[in-house]
Amino acid sequence: MARILITSALPYINGVKHLGNLAGSMLPADVHARFMRAKGHEVLAICATDEHGTPAELAAAKAGQDVKAYCDEQHEVQRRVGEAFGLSWDYFGRTSSRQNAELTQHFAEVLESKGLIAEVTEQQVYSIDDGRFLPDRYVEGTCPNCGHEKARGDQCDNCGKLLDPVDLIEPYSAISGSRNLEVRDTRNLQLKQTVMEPRIRAWVDAAQGWPPLAKSIAYKWLDEGLRDRTITRDLSWGVRVTKDGEPREGFENKVFYVWFDAPIGYIAATAEWAEATGGDWERWWRSDKGAEDVRYVQFMGKDNVAFHTVSFPATILGSEEPWKTVDRLKAFNWLNWYGGKFSTSENRGVFMDQALDLLPADYWRWYLVANAPESSDTQFTWEHFQGTVNKDLADVLGNFVNRILRFGASRFDGHIPKGGEPGEAERWLYDEVETRLAAIAAHHEAMDYRKAAAETRALWAAGNEYLTKAEPWTHFKTDPERAALGVRTGVNLCRLFAMVSAPILPFTSAKILDALGLAHEDLHWPEASAEEVLTALQPGRPFTPPDVLFRKIEDEQVAEWTERFGGEG
Ligand code: 2FM
Ligand code: ZN
Repeated sequence: MARILITSALPYINGVKHLGNLAGSMLPADVHARFMRAKGHEVLAICATDEHGTPAELAAAKAGQDVKAYCDEQHEVQRRVGEAFGLSWDYFGRTSSRQNAELTQHFAEVLESKGLIAEVTEQQVYSIDDGRFLPDRYVEGTCPNCGHEKARGDQCDNCGKLLDPVDLIEPYSAISGSRNLEVRDTRNLQLKQTVMEPRIRAWVDAAQGWPPLAKSIAYKWLDEGLRDRTITRDLSWGVRVTKDGEPREGFENKVFYVWFDAPIGYIAATAEWAEATGGDWERWWRSDKGAEDVRYVQFMGKDNVAFHTVSFPATILGSEEPWKTVDRLKAFNWLNWYGGKFSTSENRGVFMDQALDLLPADYWRWYLVANAPESSDTQFTWEHFQGTVNKDLADVLGNFVNRILRFGASRFDGHIPKGGEPGEAERWLYDEVETRLAAIAAHHEAMDYRKAAAETRALWAAGNEYLTKAEPWTHFKTDPERAALGVRTGVNLCRLFAMVSAPILPFTSAKILDALGLAHEDLHWPEASAEEVLTALQPGRPFTPPDVLFRKIEDEQVAEWTERFGGEG
């Protein structure tokens, strides 16, 4: 049994996340957590809302709310929606927690004691009309890289380039729209990443469980040469800057930069979990306190990779304290909305709460895992969604379960019959199941989600093929023993499908278990031989066919949703 720590990129607090965010971090992290728990490992799955910085302040201002009240409310909204999607976090914390403030201040002070933080005078954009500095997203303007006219001060959404607010062409204030700006001097703390570079490079060189996408992004940053990074901002909402545990002189109106404290939030949210449950967070994070055998797995979209392979490691490694660093990093490309991007700021695409108003979570979970943007960006379209749901879930899995349990209920009185000895069809099935199960588990282990879903579907399809071979409906009159064996095997297949599909389809698996009168706690990954697994449920056991597991998505629904959400990029 291994100990596995799983984190997914922390969603910004600024509103419910869209399906693209879900597909590229929180959902695959959940699938991994569920699979590893089913395999009997000790899993700790941690997520939190990323509550600081300009995204939070701007969203609160737009909502006309005080930023703390806004965060309190939105945290609960995101928790509710995440849980409704079946995200089985062990803890969903907040970067605005006391624990995160303490840890962030701790790291900054330790880094400074190692000579890795310096106080510097910098130039920042100042808005005369707003009477304040405008860090990061408080400034917008034209991207110097691609010419996009609505680039934000920290990053251009169009070309992805990270920016400095002073680089923007024709900048204006995102608060007031004022162009009455000037560049003024301000004091900030800088993390000396240049000094850290050889250590980070050696650490990246040694990293093993990263996919090529993650390694190539890390090396791109390292090869371009790291720059010292300003880790404080002229903002009021965030982690306060301290020195020797006291407010730092000259920094009374400043806080740490959101990307400095956010990843520390992984550790802090574990500390929140410990406080809430009586757990021991250091056992997961400190190699000197029992974490040396923890396998730490991170999930994130590609825009977050540099922060996790270079910036956050600079904090951790620079401290020279025995913190756990990531062992396996799973990065995703984009799930796009038609030709363009899903966008929170421009309200384009389908958001998690809206999705659940249309259809149950498992429909979305399946689609998003089966089409995970792993090796390249993928496109969401309503037609593609409809095709995937109808072909995989309704025609293959749903059809199998409903068909066999209904037939068994009507012909065998809702009890598993004994039936004859296994024959050719069953031996074919045992072989098939043996091979497929090994492949599905291997893909989950490797975190290859499209492949895991494709093999899971192939297993369901093997079930249907078995029924075609065994033909219990045809044999019912002529060879009842054979028909009974077909039903007995089919009911056992339903249980197997519930066990194997649960990481991706937890709600459906629960429904199947209910139909079979099995406890949800019994859900574990099938480790026995296919023959044993498919004869596990004994004759005489009652079962009840569930309601239709999946309804097909009709063309009219596609038309209505296209109209409502738009189908253009
Ligand atoms: O890109 C984002 O959505 C960030 N909120 C991710 C933060 S990940 C971690 F470092 F906190
Ligand atoms: Zn650009």
